[in-house]
This record gives sequence, structure tokens and C-alpha cells, in this order.
Amino acid sequence: MAKTEPIPGTSDIFPAETHGWRYLEQCAHEVFSKYGFGELRTPIFERTEVFLKSIGDETDIVQKEMYSFEDRGGRNLTLRPEGTASVLRALANLGISQGDEQKVYYIGPMFRGERPAAGRKRQFHQIGLECVGKIAPLIDVESIAMLMDYIKTIGITNTKLLINTRGIKSERGDAENALKAHFEKNIDSMCTDCQRRVSTNVWRILDCKEDDCQAYVENAPMIADMIGDESKSYFAEVLKGLDDLSIDYELDPRLVRGLDYYEHTVFEVIYEGIGAQNAIAGGGRYKIEPPGCKAPFSGVGFALGIERLLLTRADLGIENEGETITDIYLVSLGEAALSMNLKIAHNLRQEGKVIQMNLEDRGIKSQMRSANKSKAKECYILGENEIEKNIIIIKDMDTSEQTEVPLEQFLEG
Ligand code: HAM
Repeated sequence: MAKTEPIPGTSDIFPAETHGWRYLEQCAHEVFSKYGFGELRTPIFERTEVFLKSIGDETDIVQKEMYSFEDRGGRNLTLRPEGTASVLRALANLGISQGDEQKVYYIGPMFRGERPAAGRKRQFHQIGLECVGKIAPLIDVESIAMLMDYIKTIGITNTKLLINTRGIKSERGDAENALKAHFEKNIDSMCTDCQRRVSTNVWRILDCKEDDCQAYVENAPMIADMIGDESKSYFAEVLKGLDDLSIDYELDPRLVRGLDYYEHTVFEVIYEGIGAQNAIAGGGRYKIEPPGCKAPFSGVGFALGIERLLLTRADLGIENEGETITDIYLVSLGEAALSMNLKIAHNLRQEGKVIQMNLEDRGIKSQMRSANKSKAKECYILGENEIEKNIIIIKDMDTSEQTEVPLEQFLEG
């Protein structure tokens, strides 16, 4: 690998691509504001404990993927692998408690030490949203509606919304015992991680991607059938709310998600056509007790992966909007014209025009080549003759038609 390349799993994002990124970010601001959400920006690194407890000791993220390090003060810090834990830490720090509704969204880089692949990066970027402090099925419904509204706004179609419930902790005992009994029977043929998970966190096995474990995962007992009444009726209300809003979904009884903080509803949005990493968004209702808090917060939210959204838009043949188009290219012949053009460029930019020009003293051919390359709609040509005649030549770059216009109007101001 050449020394100057970014490390595997990270990328430089060049100007030709950032238009697409900015469009997705802008749409997030517009869509989420419509629902009364405000943007929260949290630090990119946090004390490791912020993530350890909320994401869960037995998750792949905590076990294998966190970028953790000790700083000079001996603190154990971690580059955030996701946004939810940081958001809850930040909101708890405001002194709010369960019952105070907080509605925020966030956009930014996340870090996970995963094996890089198409759509799987080590520095990736999420657009996420959290509605924290209140519990009601309709809040889950509104979160999903917002997610689907956003996906539609950015032009993505042909997605599948998968949904399941993990129930509440106090009502999960029967399901957990049934899962344990099922997997224990086959433990010797399962992967080493799952052999451990049977006793440490049996739910994680449902999320295992190893071939050895797939047959047992497919035959596992259905969680949704074994959870208690409160969890079942909550989930039924969520599904009814989605039906009322005509939001299509598919029940996925194996969906548990890769983070341990979830209770009740969990969901993912899949787009087939971008390879194995086809989850463009994931989320659910959770309960998290940030470090130093005496009681947990319940919230619901989701995060979309920007890289996967861009892959999806490319697969759908959607062009990235928002490319900056040069209005005018200024060509200067001689020093006097160059300094006059600097003033003209300044005045035109004040009017909101996109101006490019060459600031070295170069020949007309080379400047016209740059003008063509810039895709400018017009080219203004100024040389000693024009200054003497007090005019500037305006060339229409499509028709090549040239007109002479008085120079003064561009120099005023
Ligand atoms: P997650 O499912 O881990 O959930 O990530 C959400 C989305 O981030 C995924 O659906 C995917 O699009 C993107 N993503 C995750 N890992 C990578 C990666 N290595 N490379 C590229 N994209 C990736 C969460 O992070 C939860 N915090 C979501 C949430 C918010 N739940 C409740 N509130």
C-alpha cells in the first residue's frame, strides 16, 4: 500500500463527492426539523465507560471493534462507535430525567474496527435521531415514520422495513430460557463466540453471521410468542400505528440487532442491491443508564449509514444534486487586466455569482482551456485593447457568440 493512502476502512471524500454528502445532510436537517427535532453535536471521543455499559459487554462492538486508548492523563477513552450512548450521556448531563421529552438528531463520523468491505468501513458516518424520555408505542411509530419520510425524501425506493420486538427485560425470561435450551443442545457444533454466548448473552446468537450457527438460528424458538402481555400489547399497538399510516413492514422474528440496550421495538431498513452490507438503517426502543445516573432513560431512535445511502442512490441511478456551477470565467491578458479582473470578480461574487479566474499571467489559449474545463456559462475577456476602449468582451460558452459591454458597470462598488 502506498504511504499516502488513508488507512484501510477510511476514505478521503473529494469535492466531487461531497455534494452528495451535503445533500443527504441538508435533507436530514429539513425532514427532522418538520417533526420538531433539533441537532445535537457530541464529541467524537468519550470515556470508554459511556459505551461499555450501554452497548453491552457481549456485543461485537464492545468485544472486538472499539478504538480505545489511554490519553496522557491516564483516562481510558474510545472513539465513538455509535451515537446513542453519547446522546444519552449528553442529555443526562443536562440534569433531565425520564419524563422530560428530548428530541434530537445528529450527523457525524463513527468508528468500528470491522473488516473493511463494500459498505463496511472503519470510519463511517451516521445520520441518527433519538427521542428520549417518554415511552409510548406511537412515539416508536413516529420515529419509523420519520425514518421512512427521510428515505423517501432522498429518493430511495425499493426498501424493506423489517420489524420485531425484544420485549421488556422483566418479560423476557421465558424466551431467554427457551433460547438457551435450544442452543445448548447444539452447542458443540456452533462457533466459539456462540458457545460462550449461550451462558453470557444468548440473544446475541440470533445475530450471529457464522455459517456454522445459521441452521440453529433458523430453528430457534420465536421470541415474540414467548414474551409477556405488556410487551405483546405494546408491539401490537406499534404495528397498528404503522398500518394506520400505511407504512409497509415485514415481521422478522429473528431480528434482535447488534446492541444490547434495546427493549420493545427493533427495526432495520434493508436495500437489496448494495451487496452483503444491505442494512441502510437500524434502530429501536432502548433503555440506557448513562454513567453517574441513578435511573435509566427510555428512548427510541435510529441511525442511517451515509456511505450505504450513497451506494443505494448510485444503484438507483440517482445523480447527486447541488454541484456548484461556475457562472463566469474571467480571462485576463496582461497585468493591468488581471488586477482589474480581481476587482470585477470581487464585485460579481458580492452579487452571488460563482466566478473563477486565473491569477497567474498566462496566455489566452491556456486560460480558455481552463474556462472550458470549469464549465462556465460565460467567459469575460479583458486585455489592454479592451481597457483602452473601456469595454469587456462577454463570450457565451454555448454559442461562442461575443458581445462588447461597457467596463465601468463591473468596476463600481
Ligand atoms: P447500527 O445498526 O449499529 O445501529 O448502525 C446503524 C447504521 O449505520 C447501519 O444500518 C448502517 O447503515 C450503518 N453502519 C453501521 N456500521 C457500519 C460500518 N462499519 N460501515 C458503514 N456503515 C455502517 C446503531 O448504531 C444504533 N445507535 C442506532 C440507534 C439509534 N438505535 C437507537 N437509536
